[in-house]
Amino acid sequence: MNAPEKLPPTDAVRTDAQWLAAHWMPYTGNRDFKARPRLITGASGAYYTTHDGRQVFDGLSGLWCSGLGHGRREIADAIGRQAATLDYAPAFQFGHPLSFELANRIVAHMPAGLNRVFFTDSGSEATDTALKMARAYWRTRGQAGKTRLIGRTKGYHGVNFGGISVGGLVANRKAFGQGVEADHLPHTQPPAGSFHKGMPPTGAELADELLNLIALHDASNIAAVIVEPLAGSAGVIVPPVGYLQRLREICTQHDILLIFDEVITGFGRMGAWTGSEAFGVTPDILNFAKQVTNGAQPLGGVVVRQDIYDTFMAAGGPEYMLEFTHGYTYSAHPVACAAGIAAIDLLEREDAVQRVRELTPKFEAAVHSLRSARHVTDIRNYGLAAGLTIAALPGEPAKRPWQVAMAMYERGFYARYSGDTIAFAPPFVATPAEIDRFVAALGETLDQTA
Ligand SMILES: Cc1ncc(COP(=O)(O)O)c(C=O)c1O
Repeated sequence: MNAPEKLPPTDAVRTDAQWLAAHWMPYTGNRDFKARPRLITGASGAYYTTHDGRQVFDGLSGLWCSGLGHGRREIADAIGRQAATLDYAPAFQFGHPLSFELANRIVAHMPAGLNRVFFTDSGSEATDTALKMARAYWRTRGQAGKTRLIGRTKGYHGVNFGGISVGGLVANRKAFGQGVEADHLPHTQPPAGSFHKGMPPTGAELADELLNLIALHDASNIAAVIVEPLAGSAGVIVPPVGYLQRLREICTQHDILLIFDEVITGFGRMGAWTGSEAFGVTPDILNFAKQVTNGAQPLGGVVVRQDIYDTFMAAGGPEYMLEFTHGYTYSAHPVACAAGIAAIDLLEREDAVQRVRELTPKFEAAVHSLRSARHVTDIRNYGLAAGLTIAALPGEPAKRPWQVAMAMYERGFYARYSGDTIAFAPPFVATPAEIDRFVAALGETLDQTA
């Protein structure tokens, strides 16, 4: 896809500090942003239009969510039609046809056995939903002591209290005090300088740490283990060969639910419909969000094994009673469902999974060509996801990646930095030439960064 022509600046966009002050922006250095605004006013294909009329290549598919590219007419039309037909229906005790259609469409792409979908509006809500389901499941089965939740160091499961508790990113935890009772497995990020392509060959034994936590707490007190099959936000950490299989074995042996947070890995980015399929391991509960609507509407959810759903139904009491006292006003919002159905149509019709598979070797070669670029201490990749670790400035670990990302933006490339990492996750519709251009720009930018 070629970069559209440079558009004239949009006069109507106000960027003065007084105007910008009213919005407290999320996960943003507000003071820096409001001094140097970076407003996006349009998007088409793999490019954003900025308020100053520039075209910027989307190097992270939004926030890992817009693999099909932006401005997809089919999704926009579905959203418009649905808003005009049924803009909202009460989510509790009533339904609308689209949620059932979307649930069936999602199930068709899930690993065998995962076939009951609970909808949320975001990945963070999917985390809380899955964790609450896990606890309630054991309680329903007469094992109310199984409450402890186990996540992983460097894990990211969103920002609600459940997510930051099982998550393992210190910056997301340190300001917020007591969370939900949780323990953490070690992360699986290889040491700097490993430069593995795809799955690291060693590290499966890190899953055995779960045995130590079981020895400490006893499995009768542990509800679930939650991991991202590939950890995205912490720096694109690819699972070592055999690691997820080992976690699965231990969870099965000890009657602990295994939750895969597939908010980034679901719906194509791994070159498979799920990370579960890509890595050959089936969890008991699978969380999704982001790519399911191509980012065009907020929607997330949790897919569970049928027997988990059946357990709740069997213990539900009289039929008019709620089996799971949980849900959101906007769970399965009709407009979001319409976007989800349209996005899945496109993912299927354009064979996005195959497209990712075809691009992966080219993408891998391109990102690893930065191996000797200035400041780069490690590179990791799988599917259309790559992370480059950037050597820290003394005492300011996040500064250099931020400088790189901002300089990339000036050059016409959106690169996401988080912690010590620059992540690269282009849209599935990106061309090899666009991937090369991004990588070349990143190499030059690193070279010019102090
Ligand atoms: C693995 C994972 N889980 C959960 C979330 C949170 O999703 P949301 O921002 O939609 O709440 C994210 C967001 O990046 C994520 O990567």
